[in-house]
Amino acid sequence: MVVAIGCDHAGIELKQELISLLWDMGIECLDYGTDSPQSVDYPDFGEKVSDAVSTGKVDRGILICGTGIGMSIVANKFPGIRASLCNDLFTAKMSRMHNDANILVIGGRIVGNDLAKEIVRVWMNTLFEGGRHINRLNKIKQIEERITRHGS
Ligand code: RB5
Repeated sequence: MVVAIGCDHAGIELKQELISLLWDMGIECLDYGTDSPQSVDYPDFGEKVSDAVSTGKVDRGILICGTGIGMSIVANKFPGIRASLCNDLFTAKMSRMHNDANILVIGGRIVGNDLAKEIVRVWMNTLFEGGRHINRLNKIKQIEERITRHGS
């Protein structure tokens, strides 16, 4: 399991904590920045992580911005990405069980570091339930394919 992680200036401290946590969990973690508190544009870092997941370079991604909203919008533009904004444990669990989420987004200004770490633990350890949810994910894939055809 390899995870790509990225953030804007609102998430640098939390990103470092999550990188340590992931390595402690035995999960390889690739850091896509940003690394300074200087103000940056979240789409630049959301794009790097989302592209790595979308192209299969890594298995999953984690993104952090202030609210998590901007990073979610960016990530869900990418083919095959199911990014879920999870600022609580129940959503984190359900986003894996029902949605097979492959990118976890956290609002660094919404969630404290301890809760964020627990969200990551739950999200990494919860399996997709499959069953009736497979059909629903296939429908999302079909929508994506139809939209892509319209655009070309
Ligand atoms: C940056 O100030 C903030 O807008 C960004 O981190 C994020 O919350 C956007 O959705």
